[in-house]
Amino acid sequence: MSTRIYSVDLIDLTLLKSLPSKLLVMATGRTSSSGWSSIELSPFIYVQPPADGILDCDMVGTPPAPGQTVLPVLVPVSADILLDNVENYWGPDQPLTGVRIHAAANAKTALVGKAPKGMPEMRLVASTSGGEIASPSFDADIKPLFRVRDAAVMKAISSFDLHVYEDVAKAADRILARLEDGTMPCDGEWPETDIALFKRWIDAGKPA
Ligand code: HEM
Repeated sequence: MSTRIYSVDLIDLTLLKSLPSKLLVMATGRTSSSGWSSIELSPFIYVQPPADGILDCDMVGTPPAPGQTVLPVLVPVSADILLDNVENYWGPDQPLTGVRIHAAANAKTALVGKAPKGMPEMRLVASTSGGEIASPSFDADIKPLFRVRDAAVMKAISSFDLHVYEDVAKAADRILARLEDGTMPCDGEWPETDIALFKRWIDAGKPA
């Protein structure tokens, strides 16, 4: 059974300029205790497209079983979802304009395109299918390779934040060594092409 998690803290949107465009939505939030599993973003089902073009999603998970021993602490969790066909998401010429994520205690909105003050910025990323990125930059090409959970975990246990340019530039050799020996991320190796891109970024002098 899926239940809304306690809160949503951060939404990260990355527009992948494939054809048609895809939007990668990454969200971090907190559960009200330990013991939750299967955290995911679950889009609302619409009978009619919403007038504002914003897709509502619940951030849900499976709560601990009754009687299971849990710690009554807020536990950081993350989830992502890839949305297809951004320009015509709701129908011909009816683009997806944003994502609103609901948790039990709050909801947060991130808009595709221009982000108004106080809302998360969206990044444009060069096509992931076909063609090398000539001059990779941290903001456009490298940062999106690190998931919200990578940044969160490594920030918690090490000296760097994978979403902060200075940190990644400083630890680049350590990071590359782990990517190449396949020990990081802890839950599965990167594809060769992503490791090659990271290497090219280092070789190009680590442009911001
Ligand atoms: C692309 C994503 C990631 C990169 C580049 C990365 C990089 C690294 C690096 C360079 C170290 C060595 C410590 C240091 O030099 O300060 C390390 C250690 C560690 N990382 Fe990550 N990490 C990533 C994602 C993750 C994830 C998703 C987890 C687990 C949920 C994780 C868990 C750990 C743990 C437990 C250690 C310490 C133990 C060890 O050295 O093997 N990392 N990581």
